[in-house]
Amino acid sequence: MTEGPPPPNSSMVDPRQEVGQIREAFEREFERFASLRPSIGALALGDAESLAKELADLKTKHTGKKSPVAGAMKLIGRVEADDRASFGQFVQSIERAIADSIDEFESLLSSHISDLKADAESLDVTIPGRRPRVGHLHPLNILRQQVEDIFVSMGYAIEDDREIETDYYNFDALNIPHGHPARESQDTFYTTDGFALRSQTSTVQIRAMERRGVPIRIIAPGRVFRRDTPDPTHVPMFHQIEGLCVDKGITMAHLKGTVQEWLRRLFGRETVIRLRPSYFPFTEPSAEFDFSCFKCGGTGQFQGDRCRPCKGSGWIELGGSGMVHPNVLRACGVDPDVYSGFAFGFGLERMCAMMYALDDIRLMFENDVRFLEQFK
Ligand code: DAH
Repeated sequence: MTEGPPPPNSSMVDPRQEVGQIREAFEREFERFASLRPSIGALALGDAESLAKELADLKTKHTGKKSPVAGAMKLIGRVEADDRASFGQFVQSIERAIADSIDEFESLLSSHISDLKADAESLDVTIPGRRPRVGHLHPLNILRQQVEDIFVSMGYAIEDDREIETDYYNFDALNIPHGHPARESQDTFYTTDGFALRSQTSTVQIRAMERRGVPIRIIAPGRVFRRDTPDPTHVPMFHQIEGLCVDKGITMAHLKGTVQEWLRRLFGRETVIRLRPSYFPFTEPSAEFDFSCFKCGGTGQFQGDRCRPCKGSGWIELGGSGMVHPNVLRACGVDPDVYSGFAFGFGLERMCAMMYALDDIRLMFENDVRFLEQFK
């Protein structure tokens, strides 16, 4: 046994002093929270939240049944019997003081945190909304749909067919044999396998009669292609609408009435049309059709000036038409002695350019939003 200072005898320490030490130990740890108290309001959300976590740890350590101060109750055994009641109250008061300090800080902190969160999530309902940019139809599609609606209401079906065609459908079946000059004027784009991009929607006359037989009433809107150099009135890809009506007893009068009616529905009841004799290989007789100018009403003058869309003539040339050629009917297996019909076709770009007073049809394919947005 070595001699040395006697070990500290716990029973020699005054229990109240020991409780005081426990309290001091708590105060030392709590000090960093207490020092932040005046500036809680300046804490950022992240800092406040991590402080709240540390505070929760401190609370677990210093309150509850396993805390040092709760353990101090056991010291009561070393207290004189008549002092025990007051000792117990003393311990309880320390216990309460510790819990109160923590609780008070905790509630300050948590209300600061919820303030910050509310701020972050707040919504200023007075800020003007951002309007979504909604698209709309291209002017060509607007016009196409107007024409389609008119024809559908007159009992026509809408046909949509292929853009890549064989020579047969683009030319032969339409009574345009090899060597025919009409092949030249509609020179188109050929693929390596002898296919061609259709140069006219008239191809759909054949396809539709083959598919549906007769009687038939259809219109066929679609893209067509020609080897043209782009300029203000030409583009190598444009749109046509083809019309075909075949039944027993169809005459030129039906053609005239039909064309007149749809143009009246589009431009107004006062519109009149005229047919001029012409030539197309797939119709006999053939006619080009014009309608009275929608701007000047056919007078050729608008507000004292030469009218622009009709160039002062009062008439606007629109398309070709005629009575379906017997050879075309035969090519589709239709007996021309029993059935007759009319057909017509016209370009949409030119019509659209006139209606919207555009100087250059190429504008329609440049996809410049500033241009397109004018047609809402
Ligand atoms: N296919 C002709 C063209 O592209 C237009 C045309 C003329 C169509 C007379 C027809 C028609 O159906 O009967 O120029």
